[in-house]
Amino acid sequence: MPTLLARSPITTAVTHPEGVRVRRLPRVVGADAPVPVRGGHRVPYANFDYAASAPCLEAVQEAVTRALPYYSSVHRGAGYASQVTTSAYEEARETVRSFLGAWRRSAVVFTRNTTDSMNLLAHAVPAGTSVVVFESEHHASLLPWRRAVRLPAPATPAEALSAADRALRSCPVGPRLLVVTAASNVTGELWPIEELAEVAHRNGARIAVDAAQLVPHRPLDMTALDLDYVAFSGHKLYAPFGAGVLAGRADWLRAAEPYLKGGGASASVGATTRWASFAEQRHEAGSPNVLGAVALAAACEALPPFWDDLAAREEALVKRLRSGLAALPHVRELTLWGERAPRVGIVSFTVDGWNARDVALTLSDEHGIGVRDGKFCAHPFVRHLLGEDGSAVRASIGIGTVEEHIDRLLTALAELTAH
Ligand code: ALA
Repeated sequence: MPTLLARSPITTAVTHPEGVRVRRLPRVVGADAPVPVRGGHRVPYANFDYAASAPCLEAVQEAVTRALPYYSSVHRGAGYASQVTTSAYEEARETVRSFLGAWRRSAVVFTRNTTDSMNLLAHAVPAGTSVVVFESEHHASLLPWRRAVRLPAPATPAEALSAADRALRSCPVGPRLLVVTAASNVTGELWPIEELAEVAHRNGARIAVDAAQLVPHRPLDMTALDLDYVAFSGHKLYAPFGAGVLAGRADWLRAAEPYLKGGGASASVGATTRWASFAEQRHEAGSPNVLGAVALAAACEALPPFWDDLAAREEALVKRLRSGLAALPHVRELTLWGERAPRVGIVSFTVDGWNARDVALTLSDEHGIGVRDGKFCAHPFVRHLLGEDGSAVRASIGIGTVEEHIDRLLTALAELTAH
């Protein structure tokens, strides 16, 4: 199959005046985009909403631009452009497989996003599967299950392990599935997924991990961690072209009715229909989102060479943000496991005397700062942390975040709380 030639490197090796080669970190499109603020002038946007949707990586934009001249049908045409596009789509699948460290025989199904991936898995679990989930999950992982045992948010990581162990042990005989996030979209805290996988397997269960908030920040190796399923979204991984992924064991997916019924999922159609037996074909009916897949794969190639640099940079920015917030007397950070719990670049907080929406709107209108406010599609969890009517402000950071953004946010909050 022909492939898309000329992959332009996302890193430019430049020579430092002293002869040291410096690697450029990946960059996002529109990092300095001006936005209007009250008073009529414009300032560079300080984007603190990466956890909802991250901006596009330049490498992703370039990959999509490269794919477009040959954009054509996938798995359906004999023409050269169809061959190129089909090859790009299947190469993208292999790039995602390697990004996740998934087994060679795992299914890697392209979906729309994490919600779609979890719904696909919920559709595919065998009848009678017992599902165990914590109430602290994002709705994408909390809601798709026909019936699930919902565990309270655990007070410590150790309690997460013991609660999951007890719940799985009490499940009736039959298939069991533990569903858990890798990093909370509310507090950014990292969950002990390796230990939870061990607990699940010890109890004859499988584990499905919502990695939507982890993979934009840290590597994840499904094989090393022994994870059965992983779901994530392109739009949080700097690839906002509408693709997500469900990767994992193929057997349940191969046995399930197609998630969507139509062309591509069918092997032969007459009076009866025989469905494709490969999990990917079976659950990707219709013309697939090839540009979404190409975009996602480009992000999966662009980030790994820089994990160490990106993590170190993010750690410094999060430290600056959290210590600044801690110094503001009216600001309280949300945490499930305490201020020292390891986390990714997601920080939610409340401001005494202020409604979260008003804080968010003021930050935008007066300072060009974009945060998210509310319950973050994790209503039971935010209710657990803040009570029935609680809502919070969330500042989430990523590749385009710079110290000036953090300082602008802290100054704005200091001004706001001084009034
Ligand atoms: N899941 C996304 C968030 O947490 C939308 O903001």
